[in-house]
Amino acid sequence: MHFADSLATLRLDPGSATPMFRQLYLAIKQAILAGTLGPGVQLPPTRELSTMFGVSRQTILNAYSQLLAEGYLSGVVGKGTFVSSSLPIANALNSGKPHQLIRPLSARGERFTGPEAYLPYHQGASRAFRIGMPGLDAFPFDVWSRLEARCWRRPPHELGYGDPAGYLPLREALAGYLRASRGVQCTADQIIITSGSQQAVYLIATMLLMPEDKVWVEEPGYRGINASLRAAEACICPVPVDNEGLNVAHGISHYPEARLVYVTPTHQLPLGMTMSLPRRLELLGWASANKTWVVEDDYDSEYRYGGPPLASLQSLDKSGCVIYVGTLSKVLFPGLRLGYIVAPPALAQAFTQGKAIMDRHAPLVPQAVLADFIQEGHFQRHIRRTRDVYAERRDTLLRAIDARLSDRLTVGATDTGLHLPVMFRQPCDDHVIAKAGLDHGLELRGLSYFYNETQADTRRVGVCGLLLGFAAIPPAEIRRGVDRLHALLNKQF
Ligand SMILES: Cc1ncc(COP(=O)(O)O)c(C=O)c1O
Repeated sequence: MHFADSLATLRLDPGSATPMFRQLYLAIKQAILAGTLGPGVQLPPTRELSTMFGVSRQTILNAYSQLLAEGYLSGVVGKGTFVSSSLPIANALNSGKPHQLIRPLSARGERFTGPEAYLPYHQGASRAFRIGMPGLDAFPFDVWSRLEARCWRRPPHELGYGDPAGYLPLREALAGYLRASRGVQCTADQIIITSGSQQAVYLIATMLLMPEDKVWVEEPGYRGINASLRAAEACICPVPVDNEGLNVAHGISHYPEARLVYVTPTHQLPLGMTMSLPRRLELLGWASANKTWVVEDDYDSEYRYGGPPLASLQSLDKSGCVIYVGTLSKVLFPGLRLGYIVAPPALAQAFTQGKAIMDRHAPLVPQAVLADFIQEGHFQRHIRRTRDVYAERRDTLLRAIDARLSDRLTVGATDTGLHLPVMFRQPCDDHVIAKAGLDHGLELRGLSYFYNETQADTRRVGVCGLLLGFAAIPPAEIRRGVDRLHALLNKQF
């Protein structure tokens, strides 16, 4: 098509916020991409166009030079300006088929989608009985902002591309904290700072497993990590838990060839029991003889109300088969997205390189602020303070359940963590109850949610209950929440 025909309707608007040279540039570019100005078509001389649109020659020259620089036009001195003849516009843009129909997700990509891969996230203000959330009303934002302001006044010199393992002063501070409070055997060289436990487990599984390698996960267990493992192409093998934690004998007899075990020994999610010492020793003995890795997810061990935190599984490990994973999501807050791996020395370098490929390293300033927060004693103070705050909230919840709901519910393990499992005395569909909770202003999570979707429903028989988060909810609201739950259950049963 001739140039004058393809832009016959174009009017340049001198009143527009878009400069006139840019209006012309966009119009010509659009005509080329749409195919109305085909390859090889000659454009009019600048003088002719300036008369045609009533603008200065410079305006036309500016538009042409931008199109020449981007490769839409080519110019030969003395011969004129042409639409580039080498543009494969028709193939690239006009085939008419949406791209996704030509190329669907890869088999690996499919593992990142679907209901089992979906990770719910917190939406709107915290309300009874949101899980996975610490009490932000107890967080010392004033201290944090003072430390952060100081950090910006005297920025650390590592503001370029930093060590993929993370900010060294933070790794040193964490190593000291983990040795003292969790009995973890480690130095800063073994620590890799990650974007939460979520990335830590994805990194570990991606680097240690071949596709379809078997991994034991707790049943019921934490769906977030199962999703990470599945995305890393692992074959998920659910191993039941009982009142001593993971049933190791069941795992050994059903999946003896497993390459990795994921376990929450301090505070099983969601049922809350602590793994017994015989089970810990049984697991470690089998794993080291079988050359299986054990990932210990120690997400909320700071919160033990009946005494000091228990020693970690890693502290018992003599063969170096335990990979310890920690997070700041519970003790500080999830939006910080800071977690860490304590790797056996032989794996630390490889994990560090893997972390670099994923995202170079965790953002530096939050790491530097956290290092100061720990070194200057605020971290330990915050843990002591929140332990008291959460203990009061847990007691409030226990008392309110005892007073209002004891005919409907029994209470599970109560000694640790930020949430409380409760079981219905009568069989019911806890998913239906959790959904109905929304109409009563409640945020509820049914225990059946934590079971593997792939398991036959028969495995869920008898499992109906709720996981009630209490740490983020002030006592008065906890009491109101229990009243609402009481009203809801009266309606349902
Ligand atoms: C068992 C378990 N591990 C880890 C986490 C924390 O994950 P992240 O560190 O990715 O925030 C949670 C949070 O709910 C959890 O329940």
